[in-house]
Amino acid sequence: MERIEVNLETSRKDSYEIFIGEDIMERVGLITKVKNHADRHVIITDSNVNPLYGEMVRRKLGETALPVDIIEIPAGESSKSLDTVLDVVKQLVGLKVSRKSLLIALGGGVVGDVTGFIASIYMRSIPYVQIPTTLLAQVDSSVGGKTGVDLPEGKNLLGTFYQPRAVYIELSFLKTLSDKDFATGLAEIIKYGIISDYDLFELLENESNGIKKRNSSLVKSLVGRSCKIKAGIVEMDEKELGLRRILNFGHTLGHALEAASGYGLSHGEAVSVGMVGAAKISHRLDYLDSGSCTRIVDLIKHYDLPTTIPAGLKTAQIMAFTATDKKAIAGRLHFVLVKKIGVPFVTAEIPSGIVEGTIEELQA
Ligand SMILES: NC(=O)c1ccc[n+]([C@@H]2O[C@H](COP(=O)([O-])OP(=O)(O)OC[C@H]3O[C@@H](n4cnc5c(N)ncnc54)[C@H](O)[C@@H]3O)[C@@H](O)[C@H]2O)c1
Repeated sequence: MERIEVNLETSRKDSYEIFIGEDIMERVGLITKVKNHADRHVIITDSNVNPLYGEMVRRKLGETALPVDIIEIPAGESSKSLDTVLDVVKQLVGLKVSRKSLLIALGGGVVGDVTGFIASIYMRSIPYVQIPTTLLAQVDSSVGGKTGVDLPEGKNLLGTFYQPRAVYIELSFLKTLSDKDFATGLAEIIKYGIISDYDLFELLENESNGIKKRNSSLVKSLVGRSCKIKAGIVEMDEKELGLRRILNFGHTLGHALEAASGYGLSHGEAVSVGMVGAAKISHRLDYLDSGSCTRIVDLIKHYDLPTTIPAGLKTAQIMAFTATDKKAIAGRLHFVLVKKIGVPFVTAEIPSGIVEGTIEELQA
């Protein structure tokens, strides 16, 4: 079992551990009991994950002899909404969940973001832990404490920074993940390679066959490496005042595409196209050489992720959604670009027409 610490500067109380392995669920009850002293546990999960793992996790947590309830929400991005929050909160009240109770987010990024958000506002905040079940959630969304829901006007427009008490990454959960959702998680790992770790980028290029076949030691090393990168960045800039913004590589365009497609594009698919866009803008502005730009596009393609914008999405519509992006400051859009693979920077100095021109180039 690998253990990685997330040491946050603001308060020791907010620091926590990420546990990674193939036997984590065997110990989840014990670790949770020792660390949290909760009066009861409530698992929040979705309609796909519940039939697969809900009862098993309930049993493991039940070994602590504390009551364990399960609340199920419908699977999919449409559950990242205020309606879901209200519905779950009413059930928590019905279960007499108190500030001494512990919420358990069992699922992908949607369950994690919604549960974290509820935990941050229910009774002015109660503790929660993350048990991520998708690759995306294991390498990205479960770490760092960003929570939230979508609004019709845009992605993640309501949310909080609220750290979990612990993250339990059970790698065996990935066995039931669809190829599409596995690829979605790989998109975020590719992002870490591009913004932070050239060796990881090369590993993704050289070991693609084993990774696509989900070779367990390769997957374990990708998850551990990604969590270390994310934890390292979050430790330095928990509230995204500076450095953490590099994690948004591909997300400015990605979030706009996700919203403009009515969430028909998954987060990972939209971010993949967004990363291609950011690489092309970096090249258009003479920061990134054409060889590196091509390597980025080829790697994304190689993992069966999209590199073009689906037909039907208009440039003006996509641009309108970029305007509601949280990364816009004083009305100016901020982009994360790269000078070379592994060397990112954030800029608002993008000459007019470059973003629109790149969107048009990406239209299939
Ligand atoms: N908080 C953050 O820092 C952060 C970072 C990145 C992404 N996100 C958010 O994460 C969300 C996307 O997360 P996601 O890709 O995990 O999507 P998701 O939660 O919708 O999960 C994808 C699908 O996989 C199913 N699933 C989950 N685990 C499974 C398993 N083990 N076996 C079989 N099926 C399983 C789910 O039911 C769902 O249908 C987006 O809303 C995005 O905004 C948040």
